[in-house]
Amino acid sequence: MNQHNSEVAIVAKGLSKTYEKKVEALKGMSLEIRKGEVFTLLGPNGAGKTTFLRILCTQLMPTAGGATILGNDVLKNPEAVRETIAMVPQDAMAYANFTPWDYAYYFCLLRGMDKATSKKKAEEALKAMLMWEMKDKPCQSMSGGEKRRALIAATLASDAQVMMLDEPTSGLDAIGRRNVWSALRERAAQGKTIILTTHMMDEAEMVSDRLAIINKGELVTVGTTAEIKKKVPFKYRVIVPEDEIDKSQFSEITKIGDRLVIYLKTDEEAIRLVGNMLRKGVQAEAAPVTLEDAFVRLAGGELA
Ligand SMILES: Nc1ncnc2c1ncn2[C@@H]1O[C@H](COP(=O)(O)OP(=O)(O)O)[C@@H](O)[C@H]1O
Ligand SMILES: [Mg+2]
Repeated sequence: MNQHNSEVAIVAKGLSKTYEKKVEALKGMSLEIRKGEVFTLLGPNGAGKTTFLRILCTQLMPTAGGATILGNDVLKNPEAVRETIAMVPQDAMAYANFTPWDYAYYFCLLRGMDKATSKKKAEEALKAMLMWEMKDKPCQSMSGGEKRRALIAATLASDAQVMMLDEPTSGLDAIGRRNVWSALRERAAQGKTIILTTHMMDEAEMVSDRLAIINKGELVTVGTTAEIKKKVPFKYRVIVPEDEIDKSQFSEITKIGDRLVIYLKTDEEAIRLVGNMLRKGVQAEAAPVTLEDAFVRLAGGELA
């Protein structure tokens, strides 16, 4: 890592992409991602996450704007960019009769590591993804989640300065997801820069140092989970059955089927409401506002 550089790893300025038929997938996205952080692009299907990552990893030309990774321009100097990055594309799965070991080990060799280092890195990454026991099994005879984990292991093994993972945990079970999160956090602690995408709020909250909420090709907000939650002027959410409440008493209510989510500003209000419900024998649940509450509110309740 270049000590003279500022701590910024990735700079995107005004990135726009218009596909055929005037589909505006990105509308001038600007973002800075820091070295050594896990940064998440959080947004619904079609928000532009994959488009953004594909431009960064030099697979796709933007219609306007540009980006640099570790000081290298993705448009002017794509070869230099490629040397510093490794990517897990969306929906990509290991296939054919390659084994997880083949993926991880040969990926390292191809990136210029010597054999001993490649072996060490491949072993480390396969163990982190709980793939060590099946490292010699052909990928074609694996489950979807296992194929996915084999590819993630290869990217982890690569030792690239910047690792990009497009919905890495889609199709993984709870344990698989946690392993990916742990591995990503460990790599970031070693100074790697991690950028991943997800549409899952809990994942974004669990794994990110900072995250960007994007919707319809635009940046909605960026910050830590705590910073983003603070943008919502409420502290608690209380879930109650619809017919137990005088709605006119509350200023902020979201309806989910026959339940209401009531947003409250203070501890006292939350305690009073839950107390009133419990005295009536009605179940009511109070919890701090979630990233999802912030997301829905900041995106104007209007998701792509
Ligand atoms: N190759 C393509 N050609 C035309 N439209 C595309 C193409 N790829 C993506 N899109 C459109 O661009 C928008 C953003 O897509 P994408 O970046 O894949 O979003 P996300 O990854 O957030 O789900 C969507 O409306 C999608 O249909
Ligand atoms: Mg996508």
